[in-house]
Amino acid sequence: MDIKTVGIVGAGQMGNGIAHVFALAGYDVLLNDISEDALRKSLDLIDRNIDRQVSRGKVSEEDKNAALARISTTTKLSDLGVSDLVIEAATERETVKQAIFEDLLPHIQPHTILTSNTSSISITRLASRTDRPEKFMGFHFMNPVPVMQLVELIRGIATDDKTYKTLLGVVEKLGKTTASAEDFPGFIVNRILMPMINEAVYTLYEGVGSVKSIDEAMKLGANHPMGPLELADFIGLDTCLAIMNVLHDGLADTKYRPCPLLTKYVEAGWLGRKTDRGFYDYRGETPVPTR
Ligand code: CAA
Repeated sequence: MDIKTVGIVGAGQMGNGIAHVFALAGYDVLLNDISEDALRKSLDLIDRNIDRQVSRGKVSEEDKNAALARISTTTKLSDLGVSDLVIEAATERETVKQAIFEDLLPHIQPHTILTSNTSSISITRLASRTDRPEKFMGFHFMNPVPVMQLVELIRGIATDDKTYKTLLGVVEKLGKTTASAEDFPGFIVNRILMPMINEAVYTLYEGVGSVKSIDEAMKLGANHPMGPLELADFIGLDTCLAIMNVLHDGLADTKYRPCPLLTKYVEAGWLGRKTDRGFYDYRGETPVPTR
């Protein structure tokens, strides 16, 4: 199937990265959010992030301008009705995602493929509440989207082959690489990554190491580009906790229990970079560990 217009729901850090890469790959992008302000900030961020690529000679000024011209924004979900493909990238809460798909359904065309960028919620369950479970898939991008090479593709139990093959083609056009995962909690990346991050928080909670020593240990000792606590702040501690809860509930194994210290940070509203405080305090010139 030929995909030309892509609707993206949610202009947060994932939605804006997804809009960025689709526009650069030549797709017409409709970016939707309930907040005008979020849409304005998102366009501004896309502009600055493409500029980084221009300054490193990875994208030409001409391609940048063409990409920006391909992005339209709207606060009306119904405007996404013209899309061939919709990517939901809203908050990682099942009730929110479900409500978005319900509101969207009366406006979309029969051929429209629906996808969710969920990092862990059941694709089969989200799909079953729509009128097209065979045209529904998990389409999981990694943060920062313009830099990370991987896209996880998750088929629900009813997803048909045509939908899967269409998305394989889309990812190829984006110049990225796919990993196909079955629809079980956390899929592949988060099934492995989140327990590691959670274990790092336990290591801090139990006093085995400080924030600095835990991050240094994994950066220099395991060659990770970011330490696990720095990465947790980057992803968002609320998202990390939500994913651990999905693993814990869905796999019913105590080895996935979220660390109480992670819960405490989320209760404090210290959600990482997006709130300027998490395992590090980002309000000054350089990040300072909070423990
Ligand atoms: N847009 C465009 N380009 C960007 C960018 C953005 N948002 N962010 C960084 N870049 C580019 C930079 O311009 C730079 O480009 P060059 O290589 O051409 O110089 C490159 O990326 C590296 O950036 P920096 O030099 O600024 O910083 P860095 O070397 O420290 O790398 C990083 C930054 C790429 C984020 C690196 O630290 C990293 O890979 N961290 C781990 C990220 C990760 O694990 N992500 C997955 C999270 S899990 C997830 O997303 C799934 C989930 O469901 C939770």
